[in-house]
Parts: sequence; C-alpha cells; structure tokens
Amino acid sequence: MRKLISVAAERDYSIKVDVDWLAELSLILPNYGKVLVISSREVSTILNIESHLSKFPNVHFYSTPDGESQKSIATAEAIWNYLGENQFSRSDLIVAIGGGATTDLGGFVAATWLRGISWIAIPTTLAGMVDAAIGGKTGLNSPSGKNLIGAFNSPAEVLVDLKFLLSLSDRDFQAGLAEVIKTGFISDVEILKILESADNLTGARAVAGELISRSAKVKADVVSVDFKESKLREILNYGHTLGHAIEKHGNFSMRHGEAVAIGLVFAAELSAIAASLSPEEVNRHRVLLEKYGLPTRYERDAWPDLLNLMRGDKKSRGSRIRFIGLAKAGEPIWLEEISENQLIAAYERIS
Ligand SMILES: NC(=O)c1ccc[n+]([C@@H]2O[C@H](COP(=O)([O-])OP(=O)(O)OC[C@H]3O[C@@H](n4cnc5c(N)ncnc54)[C@H](O)[C@@H]3O)[C@@H](O)[C@H]2O)c1
Repeated sequence: MRKLISVAAERDYSIKVDVDWLAELSLILPNYGKVLVISSREVSTILNIESHLSKFPNVHFYSTPDGESQKSIATAEAIWNYLGENQFSRSDLIVAIGGGATTDLGGFVAATWLRGISWIAIPTTLAGMVDAAIGGKTGLNSPSGKNLIGAFNSPAEVLVDLKFLLSLSDRDFQAGLAEVIKTGFISDVEILKILESADNLTGARAVAGELISRSAKVKADVVSVDFKESKLREILNYGHTLGHAIEKHGNFSMRHGEAVAIGLVFAAELSAIAASLSPEEVNRHRVLLEKYGLPTRYERDAWPDLLNLMRGDKKSRGSRIRFIGLAKAGEPIWLEEISENQLIAAYERIS
C-alpha cells in the first residue's frame, strides 16, 4: 500500500513507498533541462532502465561498474567529466538508480558538481530501500578506507518501487533483512513480530512493503531529529561497530548486512554483560537472524584484528570504542564504559 514518509533535513523531502518508479519519474523529468541517470551496467540491464526512459530526450545515461567498485574516485571523476562535457548546470538533475553503492555515488556526485545539484534516489535493493537511500549520507571509498570521503546531501525525493525486489537475489534480500531486524530491535518491535510470524523468506518477501515502510519511517524520524549524527542518529549503528570491522577483516567478501548480523548478536551479548538485556532477548536476535539465513558467529582467531579495526573505526571517538546496546527490545542505550574483558566475554559467545 502506497505510503508517504516525510524527512526533515537540510532540505525536506519524501520517501514514497510502493509507487511505480517510471510513472513518478515521468512527472519529474520534463521539469529539468538535462537529467543524468546513473546506474550500474548490471542493474541497468536487469531492470531495463534505458529502454524505459528512452522516450525522454533530455535524459542522459551513465553506466558504472557494479557493486562496491563504483564508489571510487575514478568513477566519480569520470562522471564529473561527463557532466562537464555535456554542460550540466545547477538547475539540472541527477537520478541514481540501484543499490546503496549507486545511491551513495550518485548522491556524492550531486553534492560536488557545481557545489550541489538536485538528485533523486531510486533504490533497487532492500538495503537501499530501508537504509542507504535515506538520510543523506553519500560517499566514496578510497585507499584510506570505506566511506571516508563523503557529504551529507539529501535527495529531493526517494522513490521505492517494490517490483525491483522480484529480481533481487535471496542473498541480497537476506542482507537487507539484517538492517530491517536491526530497526526492529532499536525501535519498532512490531517488525520483529512480523518477521517472527512469517513462515520463511518467501513469507518475508510477501510482507516486504510493510517491513520497508516501518523501517524507512524509523530511519526518517531519527535523521529528522539528528541529521548530522551528533547523538540520536548513532542508534542506527546498532550492530555496526563489530559489523564494519568484520567487513574489513573479510576484505569486503561478505555483504554489509551479513557482517551486521554478526555485529547485532555481539552487541546484544555485550548489552547482556554490561547492561540489562535479558538472555531471552539475546537469543531472540540469534533465532530471528538465523531464520533468515544470516550468520551469527565469526572466527575465534580474528579477535585481535577485529579489536584493532574497531579502534580505527571513524565512529569511535578518541581511543574508546563506543557501542550502541539495548536495555530491552525497542530501547537502545549508549555503552561507553566497556572494558576489554567485557568485549572479550561477548566475543567468546559469538565465536
Ligand atoms: N548512505 C547510507 O546511509 C548507507 C547506509 C547503508 C549502506 N550504505 C552503502 O550501501 C552499499 C550497499 O548497498 P547494497 O547492499 O544495496 O549493495 P549494492 O549497491 O552493492 O548492490 C548489491 C548487488 O545487488 C544488485 N542489484 C541491485 N538491484 C537489483 C535488483 N533489483 N535486482 C537484481 N540485482 C540487483 C547489484 O547489481 C549488486 O550486485 C554499501 O556501499 C554501503 O556502504 C550506505
């Protein structure tokens, strides 16, 4: 069922859930002189983007490499060159169609071309629909690390068309579910109940619209209060401190959501050790994540490397590693005074 979710940021915008992307975009495109549609070659082919938009004479297309590799300075530079050669002005538009990698790249190029031109996000993965396309964080990777180059730059609109999920692999859908489950634990516990009562992955796919609306609403409300992550927005990082370290440790061979799934169980165990989360709620994390095929354990020997990686995470402040934990489902807390022994004890339980 169509839903409109409002976000307040440096500019206010809407997330339109369960709309026909082409019908919505067709209304917008004639309002601009030139429009650059950015998508990866794979996404463009699978979703037939160019032929759907071929009737609009003002639309240009830029095909990027697929996945994480497109979030590079080289790709951004190639797009800047394209925009320059085709004389894109500040009153033109960029549309990023794809997973989180494409909306991160497209939003960053839009932030930097002529110091900012409008852009629209059309996420095509579950992770993009519930997380990456919302909140205005855009960015690239560099030899120094992932997402270290970036800008806060909200889109003019986010269009969520559920039919894109039909071609999404189970693995990518499951990875997106990790973020949905995270959102259930930090805020909207109804999400947990919906996923607990769905039979299996097919059942979860059948209620994707409801899950996306609920998750997107939580993120929209949080970033509307704290756009630049001075405090409240940090709750969205539940499970991510260890998750990011695991991603790096595995040289990004895991999906972001898979690493976050392990990070969620770790953060839950830490919350049981250092705060009041009950063993039943910790177990609830494991049961739900495993039900949807997500990993909940990691290599025992990796701990020293993971600890070093967490100490270098850009979200840590000073030398202390900060974690978001839970007091109970739906009630996030800040765990700031965690000892190394507590970290080791929590890791023991997931390795
Ligand atoms: N800006 C933010 O707030 C934020 C939040 C979370 C994640 N991210 C970023 O998002 C990225 C991860 O996003 P992702 O998980 O969407 O991965 P992704 O963008 O790499 O896409 C994953 C794969 O899905 C394929 N794909 C996309 N749509 C498809 C469709 N409809 N059908 C079939 N295949 C499709 C792509 O070709 C790709 O191979 C990371 O770079 C991460 O840093 C950003």
